Amino acid sequence: MPFRTIIEPFRIHATQAVTFTTPEQREAALERAGYNLFGLHGDEVLIDLLTDSGTGAMSSRQWAAMMDGDETYAGSRSFYRFQDVVRGLTGLKEVIPTHQGRAAERILFAVTVKPGHVVPNNTHFDTTRANIEYCGAEARDLVIAEGRVPATRHPFKGNMDVAALEATIAQVGRERVPLVMVTVTNNSGGGQPVSLENLRAVRAVCDRHRIPLYLDACRFAENAYFIKLREPGCAGQSPRAIARAMFALADGCTMSAKKDGLANIGGFLAMNDPDVARECRNLLVLTEGFPTYGGLAGYDLEAVATGLDEVLDEEYLKYRLRSTAYLAEKAEQAGVPVVQPPGGHAVYLDAQALLPQIPAAQYPAQALAVELYRAGGVRGVEIGSVMFGKRQPDGRELPAPMELVRLAVPRRTYTQSHVDYVAEVIAAVAERKDRIRGYRIIEQAPWLRHFTARFAPL
Ligand SMILES: Cc1ncc(COP(=O)(O)O)c(C=O)c1O
Repeated sequence: MPFRTIIEPFRIHATQAVTFTTPEQREAALERAGYNLFGLHGDEVLIDLLTDSGTGAMSSRQWAAMMDGDETYAGSRSFYRFQDVVRGLTGLKEVIPTHQGRAAERILFAVTVKPGHVVPNNTHFDTTRANIEYCGAEARDLVIAEGRVPATRHPFKGNMDVAALEATIAQVGRERVPLVMVTVTNNSGGGQPVSLENLRAVRAVCDRHRIPLYLDACRFAENAYFIKLREPGCAGQSPRAIARAMFALADGCTMSAKKDGLANIGGFLAMNDPDVARECRNLLVLTEGFPTYGGLAGYDLEAVATGLDEVLDEEYLKYRLRSTAYLAEKAEQAGVPVVQPPGGHAVYLDAQALLPQIPAAQYPAQALAVELYRAGGVRGVEIGSVMFGKRQPDGRELPAPMELVRLAVPRRTYTQSHVDYVAEVIAAVAERKDRIRGYRIIEQAPWLRHFTARFAPL
């Protein structure tokens, strides 16, 4: 159609009211939560951009499929439908459902990773890293240099540094590298995509050393659409064909269906190796459940099966990537620098650039996140020295390399006017940026402190 406006490719069939709060109510909520946005109640937040995981809206087709879910303990019809969809998408033979992505990671690494091993990835997501380290192994990030610099523009900033991968295998020895992982898109690196060309190059290295390649496939569909838009020779292909080409290069994958499964819960582990699959299923029954439901209800399997199909719709993906880029453009127009180019699922505001008066030790990204909530009830998440600052033995703190606020966009949940509202809130905060002050931590846990720390304004 000859029109420029990219619209939400759905109409709204059921609504959920959002709750408006007064400035006084938000101030009281902040004080109660110790200025930690994880401590807010959902009903105190107007637009919640804390995460895109499990927070999306399901379609009427998904809800209808759920009504037809088969809750049979062993051999549920819903499992066989789920298995067919996953096999059709990935080409992988062994399909193991799990309750979410980290369960798939825990089981896979328990079977394949031993103390002293090294697992390369473009960038490990934090649960992936934690599950590898829990097995006594090292999780090594090998993203290309461009992927580490917020302002650098590159079409595939999530690519793995193939030379660094070769060097890692040479340095530690092939027998200490049980598998190579590539995360599509690269969440911890800003939701940046990985090209097919890069996946082929990684595959070639893995083949040379006979090392299995696994995808962390949470956002495979967003990655496929970035490839269609940006990779030479791919413009004429469907997102499904590109996704198949990505999976065809892998020996297995882990998946959180809370992202591109368009579901509120669910995940899976899939691979070709029947021996690894057998061991994984042996572990699955210990904690997740029988292999034909793996910690999910039959209706969840139906929701994921339908979601995996819907997510590859081209109109959906066009809207999805465009709406994230739209928020990034609006933030920049409001005078707030963002990580470039914007990723698929989130926009990252550069708090260090906006608030140079606040040193890293006073948590500028935390200050910006609090201000967005205070001004308009918008919740993002600090990705800076609160989350990644490293405490030294002498008690001092090493700041994180970047001070960012992530605004993650739930799928099919907010409309363009919600995003316009968020942009107005960002602009209002940017206007009074000189008056924003930092925070100090008054209470913190020994690890993952960002979830529960309490702060005091300076
Ligand atoms: C890249 C990536 N891998 C793994 C996970 C873990 O998935 P889950 O939250 O379903 O356990 C996430 C979740 O955010 C993710 O973004």
